[in-house]
Amino acid sequence: MARVYLEHVTRRFSGFTAVEDITFEVPDGQFWVVIGPSGCGKSTVLRSIAGLDSVTEGNLYIGDRRVNDVPARQRDVAMVFQNYALYPHLTVAENLAFGLRMRQVDSKSIRARVETVAQSLDIIHLLDRQPRQLSGGQQQRVALGRAIARQPQVFLLDEPLSNLDAQLRDETRAELKQLHQRLGITSIYVTHDQVEAMTLADQIVVLNQGRIQQIAAPQEIYAQPVNQMVATFLGSPPMNILQATFEGSTFHLDDQVIPCPARFRNLMLVKGQPFNLGIRPEHIQIASSALHLKVEVRLVEPLGREILVRSVLLGENPANGAMLSLQMLPTSRPRVGDCLLLQLDLEHLCIFDPMTGKNLSVMESL
Ligand SMILES: Nc1ncnc2c1ncn2[C@@H]1O[C@H](COP(=O)(O)OP(=O)(O)OP(=O)(O)O)[C@@H](O)[C@H]1O
Ligand SMILES: [Mg+2]
Repeated sequence: MARVYLEHVTRRFSGFTAVEDITFEVPDGQFWVVIGPSGCGKSTVLRSIAGLDSVTEGNLYIGDRRVNDVPARQRDVAMVFQNYALYPHLTVAENLAFGLRMRQVDSKSIRARVETVAQSLDIIHLLDRQPRQLSGGQQQRVALGRAIARQPQVFLLDEPLSNLDAQLRDETRAELKQLHQRLGITSIYVTHDQVEAMTLADQIVVLNQGRIQQIAAPQEIYAQPVNQMVATFLGSPPMNILQATFEGSTFHLDDQVIPCPARFRNLMLVKGQPFNLGIRPEHIQIASSALHLKVEVRLVEPLGREILVRSVLLGENPANGAMLSLQMLPTSRPRVGDCLLLQLDLEHLCIFDPMTGKNLSVMESL
């Protein structure tokens, strides 16, 4: 096992900068998740660590060794890809053994290790089958098994669950977490799935357009996003964003008004300036008397445990009204066209600079 340290890593492809100035250190034995939208550079980061791609600038360390110029095979990392890339003509057992054979491990040890891994992933009954005789979930577990059997210093996983159906995904995710708890191998996991990021990670690295936005524990990222991109990327439904003008003790949204929380006073907001206010759906309550905001229901989506309501802010010009997502109890019966009065939990209100996207409420507390 080993730490992984990226120091000011940049990767350019013929003039195009895929990732820029990436610095983070995954301590030995931890599980980190790199998350971000498609094309933000997640795979580029992972492939660089694996040695499948080179970096243009910066330093890469595995343990204490600088590995920029070390070939992939000598880095002692195992990578699992989204498309499992099993050898189609080999059996499951041979696939699991492949990496060990390449390293000239003796056949007795190989057999023992394959068996242990197959047992832990519940694929022992599949050892004689070929990949085409397996379901997607089973293939995925074989791919994981092949990586585990090698007992690498570092695991690199690139969207390894994205081809699975929802239920298998949940199960395999839980298995992965247990596996990590058991083996404690330093792992870096790339995904654009926020549930995977939140549930698996010791620390989450949020990437956007090739740059790190924030590195923090899941709950901290969720509760204290540093900017509007992070705030709206993590959370489902995402944080609501409302354009508002600061008017001293209140924010004005068209002809509706939200009181400015006292804790924003030391932000020295300038009167008449526009801001983006952020509030998560779970921090909005339906009120019985007119409070904070008035909305009209546009869409009702029952989810079993709760009802998701998409509504539009009522104002002088409803066509311009901002959309607002709310969560309601499954016992409530909202209907399209209903008018709802909302109360916002102002303690959780975020305020973003509309130019830079910075979360001013977090900046203040740092
Ligand atoms: N070999 C390459 N040559 C040129 N551009 C590349 C190359 N590999 C990646 N890129 C570009 O670098 C950027 C980052 O790509 P990368 O594959 O790292 O994104 P990603 O975050 O993994 O996306 P996804 O979620 O879709 O897998 C993209 O704009 C991509 O087009
Ligand atoms: Mg990718």
